[in-house]
Amino acid sequence: MKVDGKSWRTIWGADENRGGVEIIDQTALPHAFRTVTLETVADAARAIKTMQVRGAPLIGVTAAYGLALAMREDPSDANLHQGSALLLATRPTAVNLRWAVERMNAHLAPLSSAERAGAAWQQAAVLWAEDIAINQAIGQAGLGLLRSLWEAKGCRPLDILTHCNAGWLATVDWGTALAPVYMAHDAGLPLHVWVDETRPRNQGASLTAWELGRHGVPHTVIVDNAGGHLMQHGRVDLCLVGSDRTTRRGDVCNKIGTYLKALAAHDNGVPFYVALPGSTIDWTLSDGIAEIPIEQRGAEEISHMTGRTGEGTLATITLTPPTSAVANYAFDVTPARLVTGLITERGLCPASGLSTLFPEHVSPQAHQGGGADKEQKP
Ligand code: MRU
Repeated sequence: MKVDGKSWRTIWGADENRGGVEIIDQTALPHAFRTVTLETVADAARAIKTMQVRGAPLIGVTAAYGLALAMREDPSDANLHQGSALLLATRPTAVNLRWAVERMNAHLAPLSSAERAGAAWQQAAVLWAEDIAINQAIGQAGLGLLRSLWEAKGCRPLDILTHCNAGWLATVDWGTALAPVYMAHDAGLPLHVWVDETRPRNQGASLTAWELGRHGVPHTVIVDNAGGHLMQHGRVDLCLVGSDRTTRRGDVCNKIGTYLKALAAHDNGVPFYVALPGSTIDWTLSDGIAEIPIEQRGAEEISHMTGRTGEGTLATITLTPPTSAVANYAFDVTPARLVTGLITERGLCPASGLSTLFPEHVSPQAHQGGGADKEQKP
């Protein structure tokens, strides 16, 4: 996507043999646009943990490049294991992290030490390019949905509500939930996005609003609790969000507060769609509420807030009484029954229909028995 007329990706590797991995530092947005160089696997792990890079698909690609940096430092088995463990410990919920580390390991483990550094760099570039192509396909699949909703609305501007940031900043490019929005906007379909601020880290207010603004997409930032009110008054035609982990039966784990939006959408007859790449599906899990690990983050993200003052400097203020306990659950699970449909790189399906789009993950026994819960582990 473009920033001030120049094309950017959120991450890119410099050269196979030297130079680091460049990222856009998302902790500086929307106040400053800056890039940072990752030189080591420890740098990559730190960037994921401190959320300089975030969003499930981008976390996965950063981990892949992290292992490429590790293999350049020391291509031994021990270092492959150590680098993988370091990266896997950074954030627990987005399954793309495990997916990327497993794909890198499967590719690198059979190779000799001499071959690993080059192969790791090339394989990270494969995951990088795949992410762009997959998100583009999600955008094309979702564009058809947006067009039909727009026509059903008598060709009046479509109002879409989104939560957190599932735009290009959460991926290498395009985004998941926002890919159809960008494609619809570029195709001349009039639309407007309600952007949930997404407390406590404000990915909506800081990142989604920033990237929609840079692309010229009309949008309005709202507090997280406003969505239900807007839906009651017919101001939302569609909720469109991303996913950090989706179970094989279609339960969706996304940024905290997504579940409440799905409940409000259900109560008001508003379609609730989730856009996700196949790498976000955890085929080992069925019941998202019981089985998906939910990240708990630091109390200071809730008790404090940082922003730009009228004088242009950054300032951090305290919001809560110093003696109050604070709990910071970062994700929640929306059960499949509240999800109208999923938008994937292979097309649209009902939340219960992932096994139809991804049949390679279904065991022959499940086909015979027809049970969605009988799918095999990957
Ligand atoms: O904590 P974050 O900012 O990494 O959370 C990101 C989200 O919840 C996104 O909605 C999700 O990763 C889907 S991104 C395409």
